[in-house]
Amino acid sequence: MLARIRENGAIPRHIAIIMDGNGRWARERNLPRPLGHRSGMKSVREVVEGAIEAGVEVLSLFAFSQENWQRPVTEIQALMSLLEEYIAREAEELAQQGVRVQVLGDLARLTPAAAAAAAKLIAITVHNDKLVLNLFISYGSRAEIVRAAQLLAEDVRAGRMSAADVDEEAIAERLYTVGVPDPDLLIRTSGEQRLSNFMLWQVAYAELYMSPVLWPNFRRQELFEAILDFQSRDRRFGRVTA
Ligand code: IPE
Ligand code: IPE
Ligand code: MG
Repeated sequence: MLARIRENGAIPRHIAIIMDGNGRWARERNLPRPLGHRSGMKSVREVVEGAIEAGVEVLSLFAFSQENWQRPVTEIQALMSLLEEYIAREAEELAQQGVRVQVLGDLARLTPAAAAAAAKLIAITVHNDKLVLNLFISYGSRAEIVRAAQLLAEDVRAGRMSAADVDEEAIAERLYTVGVPDPDLLIRTSGEQRLSNFMLWQVAYAELYMSPVLWPNFRRQELFEAILDFQSRDRRFGRVTA
């Protein structure tokens, strides 16, 4: 499949994934939901490796949304300790693979231990350049845009810029994703067909790929299938095809 992808041509520079379906995966097996989340860690490893193999530059993973704070406290605790465990287990491997990790979201809400683990992972991978891995945690797209608007308002108030200077670039520069290209391909697993407040600004022209596969069953193979499908799309960006 990799050979086919390479022959086909354009590889998406940036792939974003809404990793969904862990709870249903667990329910199918009569297991508690946290075991579905745990099982999903293997899929994370797979897509990181697959993205590197395919030559993707940026991989964005939606791990925990702002709205997910409304889940039962036991599930939130399980997710936070899984995050710590993922970092403890994968940090060295990620560093060796040449992955630069960024953690994007309202990190003030994380437990101190999870926040410290994230900060350490960011620090030890900061000089890598093979793949940028964006982990979206405690993230909501509208909140991100509100934050950008506040930063802009503050710059205008302080006289650093005028209201007329506010343009798309000025907004993009104040989003968490500053410096990375917009996603070319957005994948959502588990058959749901919605964005759930993920990267609303950035996915303006992303190709959408909705996979029925539950996240814990998502493997390299599925990632490569999504890339192949992406390669068959005609991206027009509002223009007409030549
Ligand atoms: C995705 O799986 C992981 C998170 C949202 C944290 P879900 O937990 O949403 O799984 P389903 O949608 O209930 O199957
Ligand atoms: C979106 O999944 C958030 C993540 C994958 C982290 P949800 O399962 O929370 O989304 P909804 O509630 O079904 O829209
Ligand atoms: Mg879900």
